[in-house]
Amino acid sequence: MFLFISQALHVLAALGVFAAIGAVCLGGSESHRKSASILHGISLLVLLLFGLHLLFSQQLAGTGGWWHVKILLWLVLGVAPVVARRKVMPPGALLGICLALGGVAAFLGLAKPF
Ligand code: HEM
Repeated sequence: MFLFISQALHVLAALGVFAAIGAVCLGGSESHRKSASILHGISLLVLLLFGLHLLFSQQLAGTGGWWHVKILLWLVLGVAPVVARRKVMPPGALLGICLALGGVAAFLGLAKPF
């Protein structure tokens, strides 16, 4: 039962991360961006904690390198708001890249291909 709750919270936290990145990239006022930053931070933490819980509670850590890549993707999603604020690239492009990386992370979690 706790496994299902962990999986649901892991996915819910991922949704929170992308909602927050969307708001930081495309959102309007400074106060909205601040709320989005809080959502981003909390969601990232929950995503990592339940990800690690899923990994170790099911002895998946020895199954390959897929989860190392997921941690790298998590780091990239973590710095996305900084990239957005520095206007390194158009916000729509940044959001698209983040969504694509999220798709890769979801695939890695489901397929555990390597
Ligand atoms: C980068 C953002 C991430 C996204 C979008 C993401 C998304 C997902 C999704 C959609 C699943 C499949 C649903 C499930 O089986 O629960 C999954 C599974 C998994 N994720 Fe993540 N994840 C991310 C980061 C992480 C991180 C940082 C870890 C920590 C190592 C992690 C560990 C896992 C594990 C172990 C599973 C397999 C769960 C199982 O088979 O029961 N994920 N992830």
